[in-house]
Parts: sequence; C-alpha cells; structure tokens
Amino acid sequence: MKEMKVSILGFGMMGVIRGLAYRGVSGYYKNTPIQPVLGDAYCLEAEAAGAKGHGWNASSDMQAVIKNPETRYIDVCLPNALHHDAAIAAFEAGKHVFCEKPLSANLAEGKEMAEVADKYPNLLNSCNFIYRRCPANVYARKLAQSGKFGKLLEARMYYHQGWGGPDTPGSWRFERAHGGGAAGDLGSHSLDMLYYVTGQRPIELCAMQTTHIKQRWFPTQIMSDAGVRVGGGKADNTGKELRNVDVDDAMRVMFTLADGAIGTLSVTRNAQGSENQNGYELFFEKGSIKFCFDELNYLNVYDASTDDDAAQGWSKICCNRGPYRYFTFAGGHMDGYRDLTVNGIYENMLAIEALESGVAYESESPIATFRDAYNVQRTLAACDKSIAERCWVKLEDIK
Ligand SMILES: NC(=O)c1ccc[n+]([C@@H]2O[C@H](COP(=O)([O-])OP(=O)(O)OC[C@H]3O[C@@H](n4cnc5c(N)ncnc54)[C@H](O)[C@@H]3O)[C@@H](O)[C@H]2O)c1
Repeated sequence: MKEMKVSILGFGMMGVIRGLAYRGVSGYYKNTPIQPVLGDAYCLEAEAAGAKGHGWNASSDMQAVIKNPETRYIDVCLPNALHHDAAIAAFEAGKHVFCEKPLSANLAEGKEMAEVADKYPNLLNSCNFIYRRCPANVYARKLAQSGKFGKLLEARMYYHQGWGGPDTPGSWRFERAHGGGAAGDLGSHSLDMLYYVTGQRPIELCAMQTTHIKQRWFPTQIMSDAGVRVGGGKADNTGKELRNVDVDDAMRVMFTLADGAIGTLSVTRNAQGSENQNGYELFFEKGSIKFCFDELNYLNVYDASTDDDAAQGWSKICCNRGPYRYFTFAGGHMDGYRDLTVNGIYENMLAIEALESGVAYESESPIATFRDAYNVQRTLAACDKSIAERCWVKLEDIK
C-alpha cells in the first residue's frame, strides 16, 4: 500500500478528530489504495502539545506547512474566512486539498476557489460535507434517484442545534469577518444534503433570518471556538469583552426546485434540547423518506408504490448492515460521527488514487467537489440577497 504524508491547518474541534481518521483508515478499509501518514499541523501555540500528542508535527507557520515538499495533501480545518487563502496556496504548492465546509465566507471567495480548483485537474478538491458519508444517506440518495417513488413533491430540510444560548461566549462562529453565522455553518450542510439526496438545487427562494442574542462576550485574543467553549460554554468572562453579534442565530427559507417541487429549510443554534439534528423529510408521489442524525443508523421509508394497501406502512431500515459501501464493524454495532470521518478520508483516498492512476473516479457516494460547494455558496448568497431586499431571488441571478 502506498503512503502519503498529509498535513492539517487548524487544530480545533475538527483538527482533533482528523488525526484519528487518517490513522484509522487502513484499519477500517483493507482496500484503501493509500495510507495517510500524519505530517504537520498548523495550530495556535496553546494547541501545540495537543497536536503533538495526536501524532502531528506542530507548527505555527502556516505557509511553511503548506509548502513542505514532503506533504502531498493539505486538510483545511480553519475558521471559514481563512479557507480561501489557505486552499489556493495549497493548490499552488501542488497539493491535494480537502477543505472544511462551508467552502468560503462569501460568494466571491467561493467562486475563486472553484475556479482555481478547476485549474488543477490532477489534484483533489474535496469539501467535507460529511453527512454524505453516512450509509443511511447513501441509501436515501439511491432510493430518491431510482424513480421508484416518482416525482419529488416537497422537501423539508432542517438543521437544529441548541448550544447558542445567552451564556455561550462569542467566537469566530459569531463573527461575520470570520464567516460565522448559523446559515453558513448549518445551512450549508442541509443544502448539500438536499442536492446529494435528490439531485436538485433551489432555483428560487425567499429567506428570513434573526439574531436572538445581540451581544456576547468575545475573547480578546485569537482562540478556537473549541477553546472558547471549554466547560460547556458556561460564561466565564475573564479575558473577554462584550461585543455586538453581526451574524444570524437562525434562518428560515422557502424554495422551489427545478422540477417544481417546493421546500423549506430551517436552521438554528437555539433549539434547546437539539444537539445535532441534521435531518430531512422528502415527500414523493409514491413514497416518503425521512432521516435525522439523532438516529444516523436508520432511514425511515414509506413505500406507496405497491397496490397492496394493507401492507403499507413506515419501514425503519437499519443501514448499519447490508450492502453499503462503508465499513461496518458488525451489523447492529452502530456507526457514529467518527466513523463518518474515516469514511470521508477513505473516499478522498479513492479519489486521489483514481486521479493519480488516470482512471475515472466513480462512487455511489461521490465527494463534494469545490464546484458543488460553490453552488451551496450561491444558494446562501441568494438567501443573503433575499433577506437584504425582502424579496424572492432567482438563483440564475447569482453568479
Ligand atoms: N463537516 C463538519 O461536520 C464540521 C463540523 C464542525 C466544524 N466544521 C468546519 O471546520 C472548520 C473548523 O471548525 P472547528 O469547529 O474545528 O473550529 P475551531 O475554532 O474549534 O478550530 C479552528 C482552528 O483553526 C486555527 N485558527 C487559526 N486562526 C484562527 C483564528 N483567527 N481564530 C480561531 N482559530 C484559528 C486554530 O488551530 C483553531 O483551533 C470550520 O470551517 C467549520 O465550519 C465542519
């Protein structure tokens, strides 16, 4: 098996889990064509010991990490507004690039990132829409696009978290300058999921947003969101200053899809009691599909495509067993978020192997390319325009 040195930029919440996934991929997947080997981790000084403990070579020089000739792959796990420069520098240094979502902090940056990625067809450009790596969603996609249930009529997308109460301190996630806000953070996942499962994107939409908590205590020095929220986000205002929040806590969107289906999107960080409810309900002419990450191993399916009325009812299908692409330890020994992270790294290794051996990359659960992620940015930009102008917006007007 080939080895490839990988480096990471950012060692907050995402940085921590990635080391486990890179090291774990050949344990899960005996057929991975490439075994990643941990290289450098660009991180804040306070994070260096943690990065070393996870097997990385800690560095506070981001450019040196990107340009290190031993590294062939850069994983961007930085705050959203830092993705653009880092990813472009990585392509220019000849590296494969895996970038966290949302792709960028705004439309212009996302567009340029997709354009630059296109200039390097031999390098990976992959955005971490991780819910594509969940077997239940892989099955939902197959079912939704098989035509078995006929035309899609309605889509209800939602992503509800509950950590954004008044006691939660500020971090880059609450700052426009860093690409913060619930819409980009959570809405980007839902919009990618809508496209991934149904194959369709909104063609017009109308959106509204609100900021429930207008001021928060922000740290006076650069800190990760993970660092700010140590202790469960309970307010300890030492070393912090009270500032206005200039991003949304919640957004609602109504949209139309290309074939006439209608839908809604609901995102919030203020749904008390919802930890990570990323879900959807899809209603077709002859069936329905429901998923929620609270029960990530299951897909709920209602099949109305048979004539047998008496047999009709909801099926709760366990997708932790059966003929799915991704690793299962043993049926019923359920998957979690960490497993999806390993699956994502595996998918990247398959895509890189295809690029490097000149064969077409094909997958029943393809990576989200920078173009895919740019299209999510276009939809988010349409939401911004709709909110600013209090009107419906056509996606064809957002370039
Ligand atoms: N795909 C997913 O499921 C998922 C989940 C969480 C986060 N994310 C994405 O991953 C990225 C990182 O998120 P995170 O939760 O790990 O963030 P985090 O704040 O916990 O970590 C960010 C890291 O970036 C580095 N950094 C460099 N400059 C910084 C600055 N000015 N301020 C703060 N940190 C700085 C630090 O090493 C820091 O630890 C974001 O783009 C986020 O949207 C994706």
